[in-house]
Order: sequence, then C-alpha cells, then structure tokens
Amino acid sequence: MVKKLWGGRFEASLDEKTENFGASIKFEQRLAPFDLQGSLAHVKMLSATGIISGKEADEIVAGLKALEEKLHNHEIEFKIENEDIHMNMETYLLEEIGAVAGKLHTARSRNDQVATDMHLYLKSVLTEVLSVLTTLRSTIVNLAVNHVDTIMPGYTHLQHAQAISFGQHLMAYYQMFTRDFERFEFNFKHTDINPLGAAALAGTTFPIDRKMTTELLGFAGPYANSMDAVSDRDFIIEFLSNSSLLMLHLSRLCEELILWCSHEFKFITLSDAYSTGSSIMPQKKNPDMAELIRGKTGRVYGNLMGLLTVMKGLPLAYNKDLQEDKEGMFDSADTILTSLTVMAGVLSTLKVNDVNMEESTAKDFSNATELADYLAAKGIPFRQAHAIVGQLVLDCVKKGIYLQDVSLQEYRALSDLIEEDVYEILKSRTAVARRTSLGGTAFDSVRKQIEQAKKELQS
Ligand code: ARG
Repeated sequence: MVKKLWGGRFEASLDEKTENFGASIKFEQRLAPFDLQGSLAHVKMLSATGIISGKEADEIVAGLKALEEKLHNHEIEFKIENEDIHMNMETYLLEEIGAVAGKLHTARSRNDQVATDMHLYLKSVLTEVLSVLTTLRSTIVNLAVNHVDTIMPGYTHLQHAQAISFGQHLMAYYQMFTRDFERFEFNFKHTDINPLGAAALAGTTFPIDRKMTTELLGFAGPYANSMDAVSDRDFIIEFLSNSSLLMLHLSRLCEELILWCSHEFKFITLSDAYSTGSSIMPQKKNPDMAELIRGKTGRVYGNLMGLLTVMKGLPLAYNKDLQEDKEGMFDSADTILTSLTVMAGVLSTLKVNDVNMEESTAKDFSNATELADYLAAKGIPFRQAHAIVGQLVLDCVKKGIYLQDVSLQEYRALSDLIEEDVYEILKSRTAVARRTSLGGTAFDSVRKQIEQAKKELQS
C-alpha cells in the first residue's frame, strides 16, 4: 500500500477503482508548471515571514527548481496513486530533498493551491487567446481593405435583400470579434486575482503575507474573502461563456464560407491548404475546416453547460465536484485556440470571385428598395411607393424581366415623377455608394470603419 500524503487517519487503502475514479492527474498534468510556480512563491513567502527558516526555504526552492528542470526534460512520470498534480509534485519533492519537503504545505491547502494553478493557467491561455484574436481581426481587416469595392448581394432570410460591399460584410465580423476580444479582456481582469493564502477555506493562523505571493505571482491583487477564493469558479465559467460566444461567431462565418464556396454561389474559392477531398468522388473539394469549426462549437457550448450545472447546487466552500472544472476548460481552450488559428489561415488564403459576386446582383430585385426610395424622395409616401414597386416587381416576375429592363415610357405611366436618372439609381454599385448613413455600406463608410479598426488594432 502506497501511503497517501493525507493517509494519517486511514486504516485501509483506497479501493483501486476508486483511486482511478478520483484521480485528476490523468488530465491535469498541464498544470504542473503553474503548480511549481505557485509553490515557489509560497515557499519564498514562508521564509520571508519567518514561518520556516531561510535554510529550509533554500532547500525547498532548490528542490522545486530541480523539478522544473525535470519537467522541462519530460523526466517526471505522473502517478495515479498520487491522485492529483499537487501531490505528484510534493511526492517528487520529497524524493528530491527529503523530509524538509513537508514544510512546503504549511499554511496552504490543496484548495487554494488548485485555485491558484487554475488562475495562473487561465491567465496564460487568455493572453494567448487575445493575441490570436488580434491576428484574426487583422486578417479580416486586411481582406476588407481589398474588398471595399467588391459588390455582393446582402441577404435577409437568405434571400437577396440589398446590394452591399463585401468589405461591409467582413467588417461586421470584425465588430463581433472585437466584442469577443473585449469580453476576454474583462475575463482576464477577473482571473487576475490571487487565491493563494485562503488555505482550506478560512485563512490560516500563520502570519502569511498574501501581498507578497500576489506580487511574486504577478496577480493584480488578492481575493478579499478566503471562502470566495476557494469555492467559486466564475472566472472559468466566464471563459467558457466567452468561448461559446466566440465559437458562435466563428460558426456563423463558417456557415457563410461553406455556402459561398458551393457550386450555387461560387463567391469564394478556398485554398487547397484548407480543403480536403473525397475518398470516392474525385471532383470533390470540401470545406472541412470551416465545417469542423462549426461542429466544434457544440462541444464548447457543452463545456459551458457542464460547469454551470456542476456549480449550481454547491454549498460553500470546496467540494470535490469542483475537480470537474478542468477537462471542459482545457478542451475549450484548445478548441478556441486552434479554431481561431485555422480561421485566420482560411481567410488569409481564400480567393474572392468578385465578378461572380457582383454579377449575382445584376439580375435580381435587390434594387427594389432603390426605386421605392426614389419615389419617396420625390414626395410619394413611402408606403405608397412600396406598393407601386411591389406591383411592378410582380409584373416583372411574370414577364421574366428586371426593374432595369422596364422602359422609361412604362415607368412614366406608373408615375410622371420618374425620369431617365432612375436607371443609374437601379445599378447595384450606385445603390451601395448611396448608403452613406452612419455605419452603412457606402464605400466611404466601409473605408472609415476600416480606418477605425486599424487604429484599434494598433493600440
Ligand atoms: N484535484 C483537486 C481539484 O481539482 C484538488 C483539490 C483537492 N482538495 C481536496 N480538499 N480534496 O479540485
């Protein structure tokens, strides 16, 4: 029987299946560097406050540094019987430096230790997420720069609605990803708080210095309440929720990319580097990466629902249920980081078939609003103008023609307010250029949005 670090009050050993069931080391090995970082700060504080001697602290620090080295060289073998990352590390430290290792856990509990590890881990993930999100936002802006003048149909109900600039469409996503960015920044603030020193739940009788560990670990401040520090996981739920929204945005973009590269649309061509073939149909080039990102959105939502449900009935303070906070968080972190990187790659390598895009606005009724606005601007109440154009569209549909094919004579029969200039108004490029209202799709408006975005990306 391997003696557990907590084994004092136990007479029998843990059932083998139970040991495996309860052990979190299987999935939390990636916390190891953060666990060592937390221990190093803790031991330095223990010696600075005189809780342990300088000599003892030196030995422990040397031991922890040796473990860091071994971790780096992949020489640490994590063991189920040592249950979790904390006891795996402590057991190795004991082997490394002997009984003095036992002083490390003075004035500390695994409860504040694991919370500290999670805060440190998530801070590093959030830093990476913010950086990759910035890359994606820049990629979108770069694509928009090249396509301010590219005309495409704008859709509602997936029906041609009004012509827009492709740049406008792209910049809509820029705005969504910028709000995601801000949400993750806020999330970082809530994660930048130090739980270490809360001990099991109630603080400690030792004269610890929480400000010192806070500084050593690079946190903005310590948790104000020891029970809050060890029992909430809202910083992780916030991350999972932000990740869900981010995936939602990515998934909508994926859906559009998938449509746009279909035979029916032919608006874009994806790079071979981000497409795959079929094992039976030789002609196929499938937008797998976009489909996968869209698909992975499901698991990220699932991770959010999982942890929300874990937390909802938990009495304060620590409960073992909290161990269930990890796998979903790791999975969502991995998923969003790869999805963001892949999406940036897809966008920076795709080819835009701008001729097809514009052509698909040449033979449709997406200029019907232009005609109604034209009449309304000449004083006809908009509702009446809407009805006149609606009837004309119906007539055109029956004849198999478009608004631009209607003769001036026929137009003047409808209303003598209509003049030759109507044909210019009906062109999709004119329609786009004239939508100059704030945030509208006019070319200059899109250019302004891009300039603003560039400023945001620089700061
Ligand atoms: N592996 C545990 C977790 O992830 C560490 C904390 C254990 N604390 C305890 N009191 N059993 O939550």
